[in-house]
Amino acid sequence: MNVKIVIKSQLCEVEKVYQWLEGYLLPLLKNKRLEEILLVMQEIVTNAIIHGNYNHFNKKVCIYLEVAKNQIILMVEDEGEGIKSLVEAQNMDYMEENGRGLKLAVLISDRIELNHNSIRLWFSFT
Ligand SMILES: Nc1ncnc2c1ncn2[C@@H]1O[C@H](COP(=O)(O)OP(=O)(O)O)[C@@H](O)[C@H]1O
Ligand SMILES: [Mg+2]
Repeated sequence: MNVKIVIKSQLCEVEKVYQWLEGYLLPLLKNKRLEEILLVMQEIVTNAIIHGNYNHFNKKVCIYLEVAKNQIILMVEDEGEGIKSLVEAQNMDYMEENGRGLKLAVLISDRIELNHNSIRLWFSFT
């Protein structure tokens, strides 16, 4: 399976992505794993809207879902400059209000790859 959704850069659009993903993944995953993946994706899509597209309504965020035999691959692409360094971004203080999204993504996913203004995440089924 290979599907895509495009949203505008407004925080209320995150809910759309949540529903869209849930529709595809609910039949495939245990509840706990589904919740983990949805949590990460909320953070990554929010980042794309805020840090990537600076809330410019007409800038788009594309989300691609690929379900393969052993893994789920998600890619989020915005129209920004991209995350410079995952290590640097992760070094933010998580006791502050900011800087938790990418840490969570690293913890929960199996692999993360940055490429210009897109981020690709691999998730196992369990
Ligand atoms: N899509 C993105 N485009 C550009 N920079 C990003 C993007 N996503 C994350 N970042 C950078 O990585 C940092 C860490 O992201 P995150 O861990 O989610 O913390 P927060 O969003 O609370 O700042 C952000 O503050 C931002 O500088
Ligand atoms: Mg964030």
